[in-house]
Amino acid sequence: MAGRDSASVCGGLAAVVVVVEDSGVGNWRASEWQKRRWQQTALFFASLCFLVNFVASDSDPGETAVLKAFRAALLDPNAKLGNWVGSDPCGNAWEGVYCGLQDPNNGNVSLVTELRLFQLGLGGTLVPDLGNLSHLMILDVMWNNLSGNIPPTLGNLTNLYLLLLNGNNFTGPLPSELGQLTNLNRLQIDQNNFLGNVPSSFGNLKKVQHLHMNNNSLTGSIPAQLGSLPKLLHLLLDYNQLSGELPAALANAPSLQIIQLDNNLFNSTVSIPPDWGRISTLIKLSLKNCNLSGNLPNFSSWNDLKFLDLSYNSFTGELPNSSYPLNLTVIDLSHNALVGPFPGGLGSLQNLQALVLEDNNITGYLPLDLGTGQNYQTSPQTVLDLQNNSLSINQSFVNLISHTNTKLWMYGNAQVCGSSASYNPICVAQEYSSLIEDDTTNVTAADSSNCSCTPPDVPGPFLGSNSACNCVQPIVVGFQLKSPSFLFFDAFSEAFLSWLTAGLDLSLSQVSIQHAQWVGPRLQMTLLLLPEVGVFNVTEFDRLYAIFSQWKIVDNPVLGPYELLSFYPRTPPGNTSPATKGLSAGAIAAIVLSVALVTAILVCLLMFQFFRRHGKPIITSSGIPLKGNATENAALKVAGVKAFTFEELADITDQFDAKHVVGQGGYGKVYQGKLKDGQLVAIKRAEVGSLQGAHEFYTEIELLSRVHHKNLVKLVGYCLLVDESEQMLVYEFMPGGTLRDHLKASAKEPLDFTTRLGIALGSAKGILYLHTEANPPIFHRDIKASNILLDSDKTAKVADFGLSKLAPVPDLQGSIPDHISTVVKGTPGYMDPEYFLTHKLTDKSDVYSFGVVLLELFSGQQPIVHGKNIVREVIAACNAGKILSFVDPRMGSYNGDALQALFQLGMACCRDHTDDRPSMVEVVRELENIWRSSPYSMPLTSSVNFTYSPSSSDSVHYTGQDASSMTVLDIEKSNVTELLSHTVALVRPR
Ligand SMILES: *[C@@H]1O[C@H](CO)[C@@H](O)[C@H](O)[C@H]1NC(C)=O
Ligand SMILES: *[C@@H]1O[C@H](CO)[C@@H](O)[C@H](O)[C@H]1NC(C)=O
Repeated sequence: MAGRDSASVCGGLAAVVVVVEDSGVGNWRASEWQKRRWQQTALFFASLCFLVNFVASDSDPGETAVLKAFRAALLDPNAKLGNWVGSDPCGNAWEGVYCGLQDPNNGNVSLVTELRLFQLGLGGTLVPDLGNLSHLMILDVMWNNLSGNIPPTLGNLTNLYLLLLNGNNFTGPLPSELGQLTNLNRLQIDQNNFLGNVPSSFGNLKKVQHLHMNNNSLTGSIPAQLGSLPKLLHLLLDYNQLSGELPAALANAPSLQIIQLDNNLFNSTVSIPPDWGRISTLIKLSLKNCNLSGNLPNFSSWNDLKFLDLSYNSFTGELPNSSYPLNLTVIDLSHNALVGPFPGGLGSLQNLQALVLEDNNITGYLPLDLGTGQNYQTSPQTVLDLQNNSLSINQSFVNLISHTNTKLWMYGNAQVCGSSASYNPICVAQEYSSLIEDDTTNVTAADSSNCSCTPPDVPGPFLGSNSACNCVQPIVVGFQLKSPSFLFFDAFSEAFLSWLTAGLDLSLSQVSIQHAQWVGPRLQMTLLLLPEVGVFNVTEFDRLYAIFSQWKIVDNPVLGPYELLSFYPRTPPGNTSPATKGLSAGAIAAIVLSVALVTAILVCLLMFQFFRRHGKPIITSSGIPLKGNATENAALKVAGVKAFTFEELADITDQFDAKHVVGQGGYGKVYQGKLKDGQLVAIKRAEVGSLQGAHEFYTEIELLSRVHHKNLVKLVGYCLLVDESEQMLVYEFMPGGTLRDHLKASAKEPLDFTTRLGIALGSAKGILYLHTEANPPIFHRDIKASNILLDSDKTAKVADFGLSKLAPVPDLQGSIPDHISTVVKGTPGYMDPEYFLTHKLTDKSDVYSFGVVLLELFSGQQPIVHGKNIVREVIAACNAGKILSFVDPRMGSYNGDALQALFQLGMACCRDHTDDRPSMVEVVRELENIWRSSPYSMPLTSSVNFTYSPSSSDSVHYTGQDASSMTVLDIEKSNVTELLSHTVALVRPR
């Protein structure tokens, strides 16, 4: 009986499906996704019915054969496709296989409409047989490790709506057959190694809105046929090797909003075609570093233009003096050969975030209305980078400097920054490119409740003042804006959140931005989606995933194209419904884990995947790499980090010639080299026999790729040849060398006190970032003077995360241990004694090591001299009243109060007991206080103020402006007095 009842219910549902199918005809685009949802819902019920009736749904045998052929050519190191067995992909819900259509000739047979194999760690190739899945609408293999060519047979998939191949290792030419995909809405092949031309047949993709082909090795010219694409919105071809001329015909594309072609090598005799002036829909034009010349186009008809980057070309002539598009947010015309007067029209722009005209020869006065626009008052930041021109300023200056958020950079304009004005803050040389890296936004959840939740839960939306804590399980989303039209996200984060929450149909309090950072021109971020209470149910989970993965959120002109980078958990929490695909024990475990742990798992998965792919594990428990059988450069994919081949690095160092060696450590040599794009890099090459463990090597890559701070050395790339035991890390080159070198007695230019203070503050900020902003937090474990590197302007950057350990993450029960038990590593002299004794690593271990660095800055001495430890020596000297013998005489003049404060801070950091040491945030706060009380510009020789009022108590306690929670080594009054009274004698003119 029961079987028959359910069978009739099923019959009814099947009828509904048919009705929906019919109503969709003729209005495919508008109702497509709705229809698919109906179909999916219907299928859900259908599969329930089948379960009740113990009948399996049928898949098309031909399609099943194709999927098996497809599977056979894939590598699946994480066993994500473990349920691809049997002969019924639709009925048995094979992972990532979605069957959204019934065979018109046989209603019992379902047809494959979507392959959703997003970020599963898959390797291998795409087989030509895929072209037989004639009903496929979505092919999504984004962010895997697939390689080989695109089979031309994909051109047979004429129902394809989304073709998403980005973030793999595909190579070879783009088959012209792809031009047959006349229903294609989105072609994403970016971040691969495709070669050859952009086929002119792409001009037949009459429905395509998005062509994302950036970060490949495409050559040849851009086909003029792209101008005949009626729907084209976004053309991204940056980071390729395109040449030839910019096609004037592109101006015929009636919907074009974004043209992003940076970093190509076009014919140096060409300019921007004048025809482009009539692309009235244009919002962003980015042609940075394209080898272009000639005059600038007329901007006046680009009424909606928001972002214009023509920097690093050879444009000549004058800036147009016509009116400028009023909504311009970013104008970058730097590093060209522009001349003539500063155009008046630039003064009135209301939404400007950045005007960059650096390195041209622009003359005249800044317009009087410059700085009166609304943006100068409301925008978090406005930057006017006018360095290295021939400009003058008049009253306009008053408007500009009256807004604290406005940065005016005039270095290298002789009339403004001539000899007499060189101390003016606007005359300090500045690096524009560093701005964007510093714009690392951390917007925390709108948690008005101040709840502390037990991970993996986080505070959810506020439920009213009388409610108890609302702790919920988030979905963690990796997300990127691929071509936004702004520079500072802060000004747009609210608009972004409204757009996103509206698109997801969530309330504003249900989405929080955990972290945002620029990776080249892309803005990547981590988002938390918060259920109102508890967890998202299956329906909600699927709905949210579908919105992201099917681009159901309407494009926003300023935000530009967007894309999912990751989505965790991968399957709805606690779901056991048969409609859900491939819920494994591993997935259930993953759901239980916290946000931080998810990231940690990712690291593990990446490594696991890598080692699996090479046939056998190649690390032992001791972390020593064993011989693997791989010969190629192991292609671990880390966003923003380049995998170099051995040849590439050998090339730029003349086969690792001794003349390129700039340093040497226990691990091997450091070479200097210049990449093809001109960037100077330091290549750290592990010596055979002294390789660090593969585990540590990967820890370092993964960590460095995720941390971005101006006081941390940036990882550019790496190279790993497992079989030849070759490990190299490629860093940004730090021309200033190590802090240790500068403190040596033999240093040619000893650091003055102010520089030392600046280095202390900078490196403290870097460490603070690691402790508090990195996600998950990082303990460095090897802070020392030789791991603090200096930039050309003596900016300190902390290096070498080789020994880093992630900070503790919650265990399965959700409690966070307050330390990591670990094998003791580190450098003698810098090692926290408590860590040494107990093996408990805490953030205070880094504080101790940093304290030793402060004492080094103070004394110029190494932490261990003749077997004696600097900390004990300093304490002994202090007790004996001889602390002055420790002050480095080479630091020149200094402010006595500041030196005393620095010393006390160093001693506080080096206290034996962990709890007695300040935290890194307190260290930074105190260093800032010291910095402020010892101004950079103060002529130290004449106006040092040595006032000192002895405390009423017997011992002088440390009293910074914000010493509330600090505990500091007490120094006997007599010693301090001695320190101060002798300081004057040491002050000497520069
Ligand atoms: C796909 O179609 C081609 C041409 O019709 C055929 O030769 C091939 O066997 C098919 N592949 C599979 C796996 O059925
Ligand atoms: C660049 O364009 C000019 C003029 O069209 C042409 O003569 C020249 O050969 C081109 N150069 C290259 C390298 O293609």
